[in-house]
Amino acid sequence: MIIEPRTRGFICLTSHPVGCEQNVKDQIAYVQSKGKIEGAKKVLVIGASTGFGLASRITSAFGSDAATIGVFFDKPASEGRPASPGFYNTAAFEKEAHAAGLYAKSINADAFSNDVKKQVVDLIKEDLGQVDLVIYSLASPVRTHPETGKRYKSVLKPIGEVFSNKTVDFHTGNVSEISIKPAEGDDVANTVTVMGGEDWKMWMDALQAENLLSEGATTVAYSYIGPEVTKPVYRNGTIGAAKDDLEATAFKITEELKSIGAKAYVSVNKALVTQASSAIPVIPLYISLLFKVMKEKGIHEGCIEQIQRLYSERLFGGDLALDEKGRIRVDDWEMRKDVQAEISKLWEEATTENLSEIGDLEGYSNEFFKLFGFKVAGVDYDADVNELVEIPSIQ
Ligand code: NAI
Ligand code: NA
Repeated sequence: MIIEPRTRGFICLTSHPVGCEQNVKDQIAYVQSKGKIEGAKKVLVIGASTGFGLASRITSAFGSDAATIGVFFDKPASEGRPASPGFYNTAAFEKEAHAAGLYAKSINADAFSNDVKKQVVDLIKEDLGQVDLVIYSLASPVRTHPETGKRYKSVLKPIGEVFSNKTVDFHTGNVSEISIKPAEGDDVANTVTVMGGEDWKMWMDALQAENLLSEGATTVAYSYIGPEVTKPVYRNGTIGAAKDDLEATAFKITEELKSIGAKAYVSVNKALVTQASSAIPVIPLYISLLFKVMKEKGIHEGCIEQIQRLYSERLFGGDLALDEKGRIRVDDWEMRKDVQAEISKLWEEATTENLSEIGDLEGYSNEFFKLFGFKVAGVDYDADVNELVEIPSIQ
C-alpha cells in the first residue's frame, strides 16, 4: 500500500515501515560513528520500541555489542492498516541486530502485568542467565495494577491552581493562551500509580528474586525537570509528582540490591518531541524555542545523541556527575543559563506571526512526523510498501 500521514489532533494514525526502518538505521549509524563503548553486555530494555528506550537498545547493541531483550506495547499491522511505529522500529532493529550477529528478542505485551515479568524472567533464564543493565523507559497514559486489576489513568495537570500560559498548535503555528484546570480527586495519586516508580521496583524485585541480576548490575529510569515556564504543568504538576516518586524509588532499589552491589539511577533527559510531549500544552512552544536556540549554539540533540552521551560519558565513562539529588543529568545543555535566558526572552516575544522566525516550528513538525516514519530523508513515499512487516523473534 501507499502510506500517508493521517493526523487527528496530536496523534498520527498511520506510520511508514520504510521510514521507521530508515530512522533505526540512521540511529545505528550514529552510534557506530561514535565508536565502541565498554558497556553492559546483557541488557533488558522496558519500553524499548520508541523514544529514549529504543535509543537505549540501539546504543547497547551497536555501541557495546550487547545482547538485548526489549519489552514494549505496540500494534501489529493488519491488511491495509499500518502497525504502530514501535512495531516497525523493532522489526528493523532486530533485522539489523541479527545481521550483525547480535542476540535480540522482543516481547510485545503489557509490561505492567505479572505475566510479562514472568515471561521475561523465563527468557533471561533460558537465553542470557543474567542481565547487567536494565533500562526502564515506559511512558504510558494507563496502567492496570497487577495485584488489584484496577485500571489507573495518568493526567497532565497543574496542582493547586489553574495554570495559564502560551502554547502553540504546531500543525498550524497558531500561538494562543491556554488555561489548564488543576488536578482533582485522585488525579495525583493515579498519575503516580501509572508513571511513578512502583512498577520499576516490581521489575527489579522480580529479577532479583530469581537471581537474574549480575553482581554490580545497573538500572536506569528516565526523568525530566525542564524550565520555569513549564513547571506548573510539568515538574510541579501531576506528572512531576510521579517523577518525584520515580526518583525516590531509585534509592529504594539500590538499598534493596545492596547484597549484589547493584545500583539504580535516574537520568534526567532533555525535552524532545514525542507523542506524549506533543500532547502536553505549553511544552511544544517551549520545545520549538529550545530547538532553535540549541541548534544555533550547535548543541542540539535528539534521543540517540542523548543516550549515546549518557552511556559513553556518564554510565560507562567513569563519571556519573550526579547532581545534589543523586541524579544523572544529560539535560545539562538544555538547562544551561545562556540557553534558558534566551528562551525566556523569546517566550515573551512569541506570537503566531513571528514563531516561524524566532522558533523552530518546522523542526518540531518534522520531528513529529519522523516519529511515525514520515518526512525521513531518503525514503520514497510514493512507492508501494508492504505494511505487514513481522518482528523476527515474535512467533
Ligand atoms: P515513548 O512514548 O517514545 O516510549 C514509551 C515506550 O513504552 C514505548 O516503547 C511503548 O511501547 C512502551 N510502553 C508503553 N506502555 C507500555 C506497556 N503497558 N507495556 C509495555 N510497554 C509499554 O516515550 P519516551 O518519550 O521515550 O519516554 C520514556 C521515558 O523518558 C519516560 O519516563 C519519559 O517521562 C522520559 N522522558 C521523556 C522526555 C521527552 O521529552 N519525551 C524528556 C525526559 C524524560
Ligand atoms: Na522509550
